[in-house]
Amino acid sequence: MAQRNIDLLSQQAQNCRACELSNSRTTVVFGSGSESPEVVVIGEAPGEAEDLTGEPFVGRSGQLLERLIGEELKKTRAEIYITNVVKCRPPKNRDPKRDEIAACHDFLLRQLELLEPHVILSVGNFATRAVLNTKKGITEIHGTTQTSELSSAPVIPTFHPAAALRGGPRVVAMMREDLSVVRGILECAT
Ligand code: URA
Repeated sequence: MAQRNIDLLSQQAQNCRACELSNSRTTVVFGSGSESPEVVVIGEAPGEAEDLTGEPFVGRSGQLLERLIGEELKKTRAEIYITNVVKCRPPKNRDPKRDEIAACHDFLLRQLELLEPHVILSVGNFATRAVLNTKKGITEIHGTTQTSELSSAPVIPTFHPAAALRGGPRVVAMMREDLSVVRGILECAT
């Protein structure tokens, strides 16, 4: 049932013209993965590779994220669900604007209602601030258990994998620690 509903929601999003990103996008990157995931990953917005393929996190940073989730949570991409706060690529990968986040808000809310994850992983400063409605930075709150008005599931913020690609082993190690918090929640929930 969740699958049918999430497909319907995705179809609605494909026709969305609620903000100016619809003028420059190639594809709406709605989200993909399991229809009954224990974990939902929320990133910022699609980049070039995602805009061309319609799949979230398929570029270099996505590959790192997938590897870390595989190693730390023992889950494949097909077993989780991955989406973004904003479903269309901002030109030249600029930060999404406030009205663009607002235009996508109900899609994210509905996705989380349908998917009912046990835990949400918000990746990067931008997604974390949007999901938690906070001004706090990722360095301060990564790896802590947070709550969001979007879902009853706990939210664990972590670094964006692009930051880990730039920052090297130190950032990767912190992401692994953050994922171990997610693992702990899953172990308690199941
Ligand atoms: N960065 C994101 O935040 N999301 C993607 O889908 C790809 C890169």
